[in-house]
Amino acid sequence: MSAATPEHKKVTVKTLSDLKKKGEKISMLTAYDYTMAKIVDHARVDVVLVGDSASNVMAGHETTLPITLDQMIYHASAVVRAVERALVVVDLPFGSYQSDPKEALKSAIRIMKESGAHAVKLEGGKEIKESIKRILHAGIPVMGHLGLTPQSIYKFGTYTVRAKEQEEALRLKEDALLLQELGCFGMVIEKVPAVLAQEVAQSLHMPVIGIGAGSGVDGQVLVIHDLLGMTHEFSPRFLRRYMNLYHDMSQAIGQYVADVKAVDFPNAQEQY
Ligand code: KIV
Repeated sequence: MSAATPEHKKVTVKTLSDLKKKGEKISMLTAYDYTMAKIVDHARVDVVLVGDSASNVMAGHETTLPITLDQMIYHASAVVRAVERALVVVDLPFGSYQSDPKEALKSAIRIMKESGAHAVKLEGGKEIKESIKRILHAGIPVMGHLGLTPQSIYKFGTYTVRAKEQEEALRLKEDALLLQELGCFGMVIEKVPAVLAQEVAQSLHMPVIGIGAGSGVDGQVLVIHDLLGMTHEFSPRFLRRYMNLYHDMSQAIGQYVADVKAVDFPNAQEQY
């Protein structure tokens, strides 16, 4: 068997740390199913996130709160079957880790064992410190998530920018340092002022991946359905749409409907 070339080498948590050391930005995107994960992985995204945003984009819920651990494992298993190169990180869903550290560890073990994923992501700082410690102690890599943490949306009340005030910014910086000290391999920072996000990234050796957090961080993450323009009701300032698939898919499907009605599909070459 020939040795894997660097292009085909699997991304690990060490790769991400090396990328930060080299000053090379890290790319991260969500995927929730086999077909999309294959495309994302072949496009050489470094980290595939099986986000609990599946609750919104795949299941149509208003928030990320309803998705269950079983449902996350279902999505993660499909993604893991597709991915050959990227690091696969899976969100621990709301309710699967907040109650106590033992429950958190059980949930993380189920994700790792039943899906084959490489790491888990949890939202929060010092309030979930014991859970993070316990999961890490079991040898499971943990990614943190600070700033706008959608599982706490009912506490915040809105999806607006977080940590604009000094007190919250200070708490965020303390939490970020704590995550690093606990041994997290990286963290997501969501919807905070770019200056703050850059300051956090520069003060840490673990990679900080931003969403709505400017370009001064170590990498970027987006929800794949937003990037492709499959969603269209949602237009935050930070989102760059690389396609308008909602429009293109609607046109294609509309054309199919018209062709079926006109008995134009299938034609003589498209039948046996
Ligand atoms: O669930 C998710 O998609 C996320 C990203 C937005 C970071 O947590």
